[in-house]
Amino acid sequence: MKSLKIVSIASEVDPYSKTGGLADVARALPKSLHRLGHEVIIITPLYGRAIDKDKHNLERIYSDVKLRLDKKNEVKVSYYRAELLLGLKVYFIRNDKYFSRYKKIYGSSHENARFYLFDVAALKLISLLKFKADVIHCHDWQAGLIPYLKKHRFRKSQTLAKAVTVFTIHNLTFQLGTNWWEVPLKYKDKGIKALPLFSNPKIEYINFAKRAILWADIINTVSETYAEEIIKKKFGQDLHRILINRRHKLFGVVNGIDYYDYNPKTDKGLKKNYTVENVHRKIVNKRYLQKLYKLPVNDGLPLIGLTSRITEQKGFDLILDILPTVLLRDVQVIILGTGEKPYIKKLNQITKKYPNKFVFVPSHEENQKRETLVYAGADLFLLPSRFEPCGINQLIGFRYGCVPVVRTTGGLSDTVINFDPQDSPGNGFTFKNYDSKELLVAITRALETYKYKDIWKGIIHRGMRSSFSWELPATKYLQLYKKAKKFKK
Ligand code: GLC
Repeated sequence: MKSLKIVSIASEVDPYSKTGGLADVARALPKSLHRLGHEVIIITPLYGRAIDKDKHNLERIYSDVKLRLDKKNEVKVSYYRAELLLGLKVYFIRNDKYFSRYKKIYGSSHENARFYLFDVAALKLISLLKFKADVIHCHDWQAGLIPYLKKHRFRKSQTLAKAVTVFTIHNLTFQLGTNWWEVPLKYKDKGIKALPLFSNPKIEYINFAKRAILWADIINTVSETYAEEIIKKKFGQDLHRILINRRHKLFGVVNGIDYYDYNPKTDKGLKKNYTVENVHRKIVNKRYLQKLYKLPVNDGLPLIGLTSRITEQKGFDLILDILPTVLLRDVQVIILGTGEKPYIKKLNQITKKYPNKFVFVPSHEENQKRETLVYAGADLFLLPSRFEPCGINQLIGFRYGCVPVVRTTGGLSDTVINFDPQDSPGNGFTFKNYDSKELLVAITRALETYKYKDIWKGIIHRGMRSSFSWELPATKYLQLYKKAKKFKK
């Protein structure tokens, strides 16, 4: 295959900015494509109060470039550059008014305006760089206006002429800066009319994700099951109809994880490194984790870990419902993460009640720093999501020999195989309905199986031996790019 010129555009890219799995994908997929010999550049915002320019060696390449947003509005932006890998460049768009006001990277009341500006600035940058892209890959709603802009305002651009646009849906709940279901009916964007002026408050009602679905040359989600789910009313977030109409252009590609970054053999965050051949060394990490969080050090107790955003999506209603019952057994549970306040309050209450069995660490930094240590030290972990476009934690779990207990939805269905002592080998434990009793049964099955060391080892081995590196998904994306070209014609 000839080498392609690919632009990857995302609102968060690890290690510069991150709130969730999107940042992992926006880092790892370009790296993988780059390693396969393609010329990839990444474009992302410069969040002035979240990204340390010195630490990441950002270098300014264009200052105060005038950006025409429409007939009446103009802003100035500057462009910066850094390198993620040798030869893999990351470009940052700087506008302090829109991207450096707050420490948090999202949550402004002008979220659409911010990312409208970002999308225009990204296309402008591609032109400035004269980067004759074959593919412009847009991730989630924040990059969602790009396919539309390319076919309208930028339709005459020579540099962009041959590019196809790809839109990847990481989470269909997020379609624009506000919640779609809260937009008054008369303002609901149909996705085809010209955009309002940048200065017009109506800009905040533009549905970026919808426009991306309507105007991109190809669309995909981050797992095959989620691609099937979102064309149904239950998961479609009011976009299922337009998705059905574009079914022939809608695909699913299960994410990978970066096998260089996530590697128990070399991970510096662990107390003891290990591989599938000497997985017994994992126990050193378990003891360390127990000590670190002031739990009784005990090899034989099953340790349940959890690192995720503490939100409804991730199944915290179920977890909170059954946690006190689980804690009646001989177990230890560690939860790391940040998220919605009511859940956090309850988790803190449970900590007080079970100080020797349960730890809750409500910190984002801690979460990032200790994430892999939790997978290395814990025996199993929970992800009972209400919905899950792909899910990355179960993949990290496999890699570190930490057995997942998940609900079969979206990408969790595509990656976790239920263990059944009768006939199925399995690499984890699954349950079907979003119901706390079903979760409890799945955890109980896991805890009972844990008592049989050889069987448990088999489950760990199968997880560790399965490969969820980015190589396969990256080649699937290359096939998608090819298909997009056909659709464009
Ligand atoms: C979103 C989804 C998650 C997915 C991630 C990366 O955060 O909720 O399921 O793994 O994006 O694609």
